[in-house]
Amino acid sequence: MAPTTWSRICAAGVLTGTIVTLARGSSEDLHFSLVSRGTNLDGSLPVYKDPNALIEDRVNDLLPRMTIEEKVAQLIQGDMNGWMNFTDPLDDTLAYNQTGLELMLAQKSGAVWGGYLTPWDKFVYGATIGQKYLMENTTLGIPAIVQSEGLHGFTNNGTIWPSPIGLAASFNTELLQQAASTIADEAEGLGFHQIFAPVLDLSRELRWGRVEENFGEDPFLTGEMGNAYVTGLQSGRRRNTSSTAIARMAATCKHFAAYGSPQGGLNIAQVSGGERELRTSYLRPFNKACVQALGIMTAYASYDGVPAVANTHLLTDILRNEWGYPYLVTSDAGSVDLLITTHGVCETRECAAKLALENGVQMEMGGGTYTYLTLPDQVNNGTVNVSYIDETVKTILRTKFALGLFENPYPYPDYLSTLRTPATRALLHQMEQESIVLLENHNATLPLSPSTLRSIALIGPQVARVSFGDYVFFNASNNGISPLAGFTQYLANTSVRINYAEGCELWSSDLSGIGDALEMTAESDVAVVMVGTWSLDQTLLWAPGTNATTGEHVDLSDLGLVGAQMELVKAVKSVGKPVVVVLVSGKPVAEPWIQENADAVVQQFYPGELGGLALAEIIFGAVSPSGKLPVSFPRSVGTTPVFYDYLKGSRPVDPGMVTDNGTLVFGHQYVLDTPVPLWSFGHGLSYTSFNYTDLELSSDTIGTSDNFSVSVTVHNSGGMDAKEVVQVYMTDLFSSVVTPNQMLVGFQKVEIPAGGSQRVTVEVEAAQLGLWAMSGAWVVEPGTFAVRVGTSDEVYLNTTLVVV
Ligand SMILES: *[C@@H]1O[C@H](CO)[C@@H](O)[C@H](O)[C@H]1NC(C)=O
Ligand SMILES: *[C@@H]1O[C@H](CO)[C@@H](O)[C@H](O)[C@H]1NC(C)=O
Ligand SMILES: *[C@@H]1O[C@H](CO)[C@@H](O)[C@H](O)[C@H]1NC(C)=O
Ligand SMILES: *[C@@H]1O[C@H](CO)[C@@H](O)[C@H](O)[C@H]1NC(C)=O
Ligand SMILES: *[C@@H]1O[C@H](CO)[C@@H](O)[C@H](O)[C@H]1NC(C)=O
Ligand SMILES: *[C@@H]1O[C@H](CO)[C@@H](O)[C@H](O)[C@H]1NC(C)=O
Ligand SMILES: *[C@@H]1O[C@H](CO)[C@@H](O)[C@H](O)[C@H]1NC(C)=O
Ligand SMILES: *[C@@H]1O[C@H](CO)[C@@H](O)[C@H](O)[C@H]1NC(C)=O
Ligand SMILES: *[C@@H]1O[C@H](CO)[C@@H](O)[C@H](O)[C@H]1NC(C)=O
Ligand SMILES: *[C@@H]1O[C@H](CO)[C@@H](O)[C@H](O)[C@H]1NC(C)=O
Ligand SMILES: *[C@@H]1O[C@H](CO)[C@@H](O)[C@H](O)[C@H]1NC(C)=O
Ligand SMILES: *[C@@H]1O[C@H](CO)[C@@H](O)[C@H](O)[C@H]1NC(C)=O
Repeated sequence: MAPTTWSRICAAGVLTGTIVTLARGSSEDLHFSLVSRGTNLDGSLPVYKDPNALIEDRVNDLLPRMTIEEKVAQLIQGDMNGWMNFTDPLDDTLAYNQTGLELMLAQKSGAVWGGYLTPWDKFVYGATIGQKYLMENTTLGIPAIVQSEGLHGFTNNGTIWPSPIGLAASFNTELLQQAASTIADEAEGLGFHQIFAPVLDLSRELRWGRVEENFGEDPFLTGEMGNAYVTGLQSGRRRNTSSTAIARMAATCKHFAAYGSPQGGLNIAQVSGGERELRTSYLRPFNKACVQALGIMTAYASYDGVPAVANTHLLTDILRNEWGYPYLVTSDAGSVDLLITTHGVCETRECAAKLALENGVQMEMGGGTYTYLTLPDQVNNGTVNVSYIDETVKTILRTKFALGLFENPYPYPDYLSTLRTPATRALLHQMEQESIVLLENHNATLPLSPSTLRSIALIGPQVARVSFGDYVFFNASNNGISPLAGFTQYLANTSVRINYAEGCELWSSDLSGIGDALEMTAESDVAVVMVGTWSLDQTLLWAPGTNATTGEHVDLSDLGLVGAQMELVKAVKSVGKPVVVVLVSGKPVAEPWIQENADAVVQQFYPGELGGLALAEIIFGAVSPSGKLPVSFPRSVGTTPVFYDYLKGSRPVDPGMVTDNGTLVFGHQYVLDTPVPLWSFGHGLSYTSFNYTDLELSSDTIGTSDNFSVSVTVHNSGGMDAKEVVQVYMTDLFSSVVTPNQMLVGFQKVEIPAGGSQRVTVEVEAAQLGLWAMSGAWVVEPGTFAVRVGTSDEVYLNTTLVVV
């Protein structure tokens, strides 16, 4: 084939408008047909269709074949509701709208939103129609990335896992990786290729409604959990695809970046901070977990006055240039429009599109006005340089090739075989148990014994409720086991009687149910009182007239229990029976009275489908609790923030208090309270006891780029087989800038039989000791570092490491 020259392309361009656009600014030799651009002039297989070609060669072969309209269509998220009617989640009619299909995909076909609750066979039908149309009935045959939600379970009737805050409480990265893999299994067979998870925002502002969606307050834990999630979700390769494909599902790390600390705890409000805080806290989890993720989603908020969707420093300087991130960066729903309506940096949609595109947002999600539809005109008249479009389209094509979609974008015929399997349920059961945290256990109140107990009072508004966090589908709770059902199932073959009373509603101050609760308690040997916060599913959370205390766009000014709940707890305690308080919540509940007065306190962050059963198993000691707090519990909002890794000097303590009899005892930090949290990050008790011996570093002295390891022997010196989370904290004693008073640098969850012991080695990378220096770079400074091993509350052993 003779290479085509620039002049020949221009001449050809006279014939059709598309070709003029196609060729502008390009001097590619045209080895493909101008009429049928998905073929080559010489009849050979186009490189982009060759499964054996390198991904970069395929991208470079395809790009010049595309018109500007086709390119821009790749930058916009379409919606399957263009050709399918998903209005009724139970309707199972297999029909589609041809006009709607063609209209939608002509303009918006980079990705297709498919996050509907709909019968699985109907979804598979719609996905197949859309992909077949793109693959077989369009000139170039570019498949779409089909997207949905799944930050703790696939949201079209998939298995619901504990909310991410609960997943993090397991401190079990291997288990989380397996969990994420099952979430991908459930979505992949149905024809999905991208899940909008994990969330790597930090829970350092506890009033914010979305605390439950995060892996807690700590950058290191969040990065480790995020990495496990991304690895599990993406693991493997789609069926019947090219050997160059690297993942079967694109994870989407969000929200990039620094979204989790909005001013006043108000959703999408601005976040304050500087470069050092950005690097040291907010970006660390993304750097750890997301460079290998095939997707990243921007945040709604602005950081230091720059909206995340128009932040070149974040999206281009750091993400692209420093980290070399090559894949897809999408906006969040409607967030490009916020440049006009919220941030006030653009007056027009044209401006918003140009700003987002040029600063590094590749795909515009739906939920707004589709500002990117203005791009073809803006390119044609010279407002936007097509080279931005080209670089952006490349990242999307690269993502599609990396997923193997050009070979097989379709659902699998046997999709039912990976949905809701017994193996997934067994993993879920383990995760539910490992997510529960034992906060207090005075006088070994727990575990209760099913053989000696005659009766148990289950009291409170969380007992008969399946309290899932946000990002679950409408009526997902129907698939869950409530604590009442779980205790009933667990105690079925015992003689323990359950006396249940709701006591009060979550959402009311009505005290009229407390009488019943007192009666039930009086008739029982022990009372378990379940109170907390509540969220709603994705349909109800956004419906007018509903109520919730946590979840997206549900922010609190007070972290205490709402309504009559605290009065219920106090009333039950006054009966004189042992009282176990179970906090079922999506964030820390700040109630010092409970810490001081309950005989035992159990934290269950919003669980998954088997949460009610796992709670019974923990309370009755079928398994020892092994969860640890991923977030610290403040005494009140006024004492926040309470994260454990505050910078040195940030927590003077000279407490005051109001005593039970009303006496005022004056202090200074604070005058009538203390900034010390009720329970700190990493805290969590067990039914057995562990002790640690033989702490050893791989070397007491290392160079600034030497990795090292911390080893310790852990003994289970109690009477029960149990899991323990070995935590390693370090402090840079003297540094050129202020560093954290302590930071988690490693952890490992181990299972040790009663009486047994295990040598545990935690690897630490030299880079983890780095600080963001005044020179504007990461530096590991020579000096002495304190090393402590144990839990945040209780340090068992310590030593020092010298960096030279
Ligand atoms: C979609 O389905 C609903 C009910 O299932 C129906 O009421 C509605 O008219 C349908 N919409 C279209 C555009 O056909
Ligand atoms: C099909 O889609 C087109 C374009 O969106 C719309 O105008 C038309 O009403 C739809 N037809 C039906 C039967 O829903
Ligand atoms: C694709 O094209 C074929 C043949 O032209 C046609 O029969 C089929 O209906 C088209 N499919 C879609 C979904 O447009
Ligand atoms: C969810 O799946 C179950 C089967 O596993 C089915 O019985 C139920 O109807 C489905 N619910 C919805 C809303 O599709
Ligand atoms: C180019 O087109 C855009 C969108 O139609 C318009 O906003 C802009 O003013 C035009 N610019 C020029 C230089 O014509
Ligand atoms: C468009 O961007 C490319 C690459 O940065 C640059 O070489 C070219 O000069 C730009 N064109 C215009 C008209 O600014
Ligand atoms: C993969 O290809 C084989 C043989 O070509 C076919 O039988 C099978 O259905 C394909 N699997 C999928 C998931 O498309
Ligand atoms: C624990 O037991 C001791 C002695 O049996 C008793 O004095 C104390 O009040 C108990 N503490 C709690 C919190 O129940
Ligand atoms: C809160 O929502 C529940 C349903 O979840 C409803 O029964 C109750 O009446 C609502 N209460 C208030 C005060 O809005
Ligand atoms: C109140 O309690 C404190 C101890 O908490 C005690 O010292 C003080 O005497 C009590 N005051 C009264 C008036 O009972
Ligand atoms: C820890 O437990 C082991 C085994 O029970 C015991 O030999 C050892 O002395 C204990 N060490 C400490 C410091 O308590
Ligand atoms: C261990 O910690 C204690 C208390 O902070 C300190 O005095 C001691 O020097 C530390 N030991 C080592 C070896 O660093």
